Amino acid sequence: MRITDTADLWWKNAVVYCLDVETFMDWDGDGCGDFAGLAQRLDHLADLGVTCLWLMPFYPTAERDDGYDITDFYGVDPRLGTHGDLVEVIRTANDRGMRVIADLVVNHTSEKHPWFRSARSSKDSPYRDFYVWRADPPPDTSAQVVFPDQEDSIWQLEEKTGEWYLHKFYRQQPDLNVANPLVRDEIAKVMGFWLQLGLSGFRVDAVPFLLETAGVDEQEAAAFPDPHQYLRALRALLGRRAEAAVLLGEVNLPHEQQAEFFGGPDGGELTMQFDFIAMQAMYLSLARCDAAPLADALTARPRISPDNQWGTFVRNHDELTLDKLSEDERAEVFAAFGPEARMQVYGRGLIRRLPPMLAGDPRRIRMVYSLMFSLPGTPVLFYGEEIGMGESLAAEGRLAVRTPMQWTSGKNGGFSTAAAGRLPGPVVEGGFSPEHVNVADQRRDPDSMLAFMRLLIRRYRESPELGWGNFEVLDQPHPQVFAHLSSWDDGALVALHNLGAEPCTVPLTLAGCGSTHRLEDLLVACSTPLTEDGSVELTLEGYGYRWLRVVAEDSRRLV
Ligand code: NOJ
Repeated sequence: MRITDTADLWWKNAVVYCLDVETFMDWDGDGCGDFAGLAQRLDHLADLGVTCLWLMPFYPTAERDDGYDITDFYGVDPRLGTHGDLVEVIRTANDRGMRVIADLVVNHTSEKHPWFRSARSSKDSPYRDFYVWRADPPPDTSAQVVFPDQEDSIWQLEEKTGEWYLHKFYRQQPDLNVANPLVRDEIAKVMGFWLQLGLSGFRVDAVPFLLETAGVDEQEAAAFPDPHQYLRALRALLGRRAEAAVLLGEVNLPHEQQAEFFGGPDGGELTMQFDFIAMQAMYLSLARCDAAPLADALTARPRISPDNQWGTFVRNHDELTLDKLSEDERAEVFAAFGPEARMQVYGRGLIRRLPPMLAGDPRRIRMVYSLMFSLPGTPVLFYGEEIGMGESLAAEGRLAVRTPMQWTSGKNGGFSTAAAGRLPGPVVEGGFSPEHVNVADQRRDPDSMLAFMRLLIRRYRESPELGWGNFEVLDQPHPQVFAHLSSWDDGALVALHNLGAEPCTVPLTLAGCGSTHRLEDLLVACSTPLTEDGSVELTLEGYGYRWLRVVAEDSRRLV
């Protein structure tokens, strides 16, 4: 590959940043974040090194699922601004070198969506078949609900017509019937609309649920035999409508099944997928101070097309799901990072952000982000991670991590001038409150988390081998050390991460290297020569981390 390829397949070494306009920055003082506020903060994101913004749902909503219950797929929630304000944000972001993608939530609508209002009112509604209905009483489906604290069935009786409709999420989120060609036409139109307005793609919500036809009338399901063909068609549409747009899919399934959603080793379906498996393994590794679970998860990734990419992440806007770990493993992670019942949710996840989970230990927090940025894939940040924000357990469930962004140490963390009661959620209190954790203070502090994140991002962007190269776990004797190599034509990068609290010395031998090579640290100023046979001993502090570029004597790469 050539360096210029990174401009075509931009998503392979992008830095994605997820934010909810509602909680990011309130510019008109009504207590709710807005596009005008986001526009004011784009320079912060550009300065951080973000290259792609992921906007959580900004559409009109009935507010049952924090915007993931949409009442108009073509609208903009008036509390956030107008289509015009969105376009201004996209344009300004583009000017600062950032693309913008947004959530595409088409597995379901809100029950308040006009389609469902009509569908539920009569069996003869033209929209009846936009949803999935059954006439006979459903069996026990309590094991299939996504939100077990709120729902005990995926079927809800609609009194008026005496039939049950399907909903995998809350009952206020009826599932769309993707086997209906009219629904598929609508989804394509929705995508086309937002691409035309300037989006560079979508984070596709709940992909396996969207494509599933269980519960759909047999005949209709038979007429829609291959959901992967459909995903392929959506990707093709994307390619026709917007050059180099992406589908970043939420597919929390084992790797082998994720491979199918990429379209197998030749690709053609989702462009990117979050690696939920590696994320969960990482937390197990952190809890055990043992690199093996993470190393195993990464080396077991299926082969994917060179056009595709994994999204790596530490936290997202949902619970930190640990559903793919065994019960014992999950219990280990709970014990280490969220032992209290109020920190846990759905029996499978934690509603905490990373810094409080690590008791605010800056060495360990930085080590984890260093690790994430060094892994093969494209890092996806959640707003506030760049300054080490904590959560508010005073907020309801998953909203604990969706508190107002902390810009200053002032009132409401500088998020809004409104009275606290008008904000979308509580501002974090205690040790992670805006008084201690905020952007303005950290901008002026060269040793801050923000400065560290900026450095990580700069180095990540300068090292496309991390997103593009061959990945290899390096042999070394310490179980608590994760040592890996990412290599491509033009060089290689060794990254070392000590998951344990004790310092250690790591002996390495780098195949194909010798005394004409040296290792240049990328996070601090330090250069280490290699011996004749390519071996070296590298020291690591407790929770230490090092990024080392392998530099050949005749290399012309800028270090
Ligand atoms: C996944 C989203 O990440 C989550 O926040 C939402 O509740 C469900 N999908 C339903 O849309």
